[in-house]
Amino acid sequence: MPTLLDLEDAQTYERHATRRLKAFLKFDVGLERLGAAPENAPSLGVALRALHHLELRGVYTHLHVPPHAPAEEMYPYLQWQFARFKSALEALREAGIEPSIRMAASSGVLMQTDEMHLNAVDPGHLLFGMYPSGPRRPPAGPAARSTLAEESPGAGQGGESHRIRGAGAICNPTRDGHRCVPLRHL
Ligand SMILES: Cc1ncc(COP(=O)(O)O)c(C=O)c1O
Repeated sequence: MPTLLDLEDAQTYERHATRRLKAFLKFDVGLERLGAAPENAPSLGVALRALHHLELRGVYTHLHVPPHAPAEEMYPYLQWQFARFKSALEALREAGIEPSIRMAASSGVLMQTDEMHLNAVDPGHLLFGMYPSGPRRPPAGPAARSTLAEESPGAGQGGESHRIRGAGAICNPTRDGHRCVPLRHL
């Protein structure tokens, strides 16, 4: 499923599509890497509505989690980015676009807060039993624990492993020697 980064992307897919295409739209809220500017969401939403071949299944972003930021600066910075993403979602909604998947939380975000889960999360490092670089904050509260990971004995002692509640273990087989459960069983 392609990711659309701007209107030009969307129009290119629209022009060449021979059937209806499902796509995701990405916003750039702070990482300054890839994605549409949240400020353009109102006009982008209106323009996307006019395209007949594209079905927006999801909207996402990848928040910037600076590895060396002091704790007191990290959370406000994440909140600022998250607010930009939510304003983009709201602008799309006002344009009549409400994709079913909305996600902003990669591993670094999940390590910092339980408040940005929306209705989907997007971890890479944690799925493979690794910590992203940057400050660590153990998941707090029932929502975070049931959604993502619990540290298991031995985590942080040379091998990082996490247990998904009720699902199995995701670990780094080269470092901690645990038996891993294939992802398809999770
Ligand atoms: C859009 C997007 N989502 C999620 C991830 C996963 O990040 P992490 O491994 O920190 O969870 C990446 C990694 O670059 C990414 O680009």
